[in-house]
Amino acid sequence: MVAAKYIVGNWKLHGSVQENAVRFAALKAGCQPGDTLAVCVPFPYLAQAQQALQGSAIGWGAQNVSEHAKGAFTGEVSAAMLADFGCGCVIVGHSERRSLYGEDDATVARKAQAVAEAGMMPIVCVGETLSERECGDTAQVVTRQLAAVLADASEELKRGLVVAYEPVWAIGSGRAASEEDVREVHALLRGQLEQAGVIGARLLYGGSVKASNAGTLLNVVNVDGALVGGASLDAEEFLAIAQAARA
Ligand code: PGA
Repeated sequence: MVAAKYIVGNWKLHGSVQENAVRFAALKAGCQPGDTLAVCVPFPYLAQAQQALQGSAIGWGAQNVSEHAKGAFTGEVSAAMLADFGCGCVIVGHSERRSLYGEDDATVARKAQAVAEAGMMPIVCVGETLSERECGDTAQVVTRQLAAVLADASEELKRGLVVAYEPVWAIGSGRAASEEDVREVHALLRGQLEQAGVIGARLLYGGSVKASNAGTLLNVVNVDGALVGGASLDAEEFLAIAQAARA
């Protein structure tokens, strides 16, 4: 049996209690048996996700985590706290965290490790900027980013790792990567994972995924799902992506 495609919504810095309630209800109503969906919401709405999605098959998680377990780190949220709360997955190393908040490869690796150790699924994002692509550095950048995570990866991390290839230029631009670009980078990442003994990890594609291109992108070899930003804020659109994943 072919494993269901994993469709993860990244709500980023969006939402309100009222808005979320409507979206959660619509997702619950539209989720079909066999779908594997999850939403990564802002921290204050984790409690709402926990309550609203209880009894549904839709997973939920966070968009960031502290690399530290505890201590004097004002404003941080630890992996154990997220796990305590019932979070299933955490996005780690999103390009916005890397570029706007200075997260380097080593930080991302420590965060991924913390998430896995707490029993959750780290969704580690890798991807090149437009200038890196134009310089022909795509392969080098994504392999360097993934290598940092694999370097001292524990068995837990190897077992639970999900990698999302998100070319930075495709995020929020309305311009998704081409099938060929995705095929090429996913094959590279798959090879790198297998070489490190990580067999069967899910590889997601992210960057301007919407209902109209999801079918094509999800059909590419080695694409096991999608990380969806903007289109995940519209429940109908997100469910249409889930439907494309079924087809
Ligand atoms: P996008 O964002 O779908 O809006 O391009 C994807 C992401 O940043 O995870």
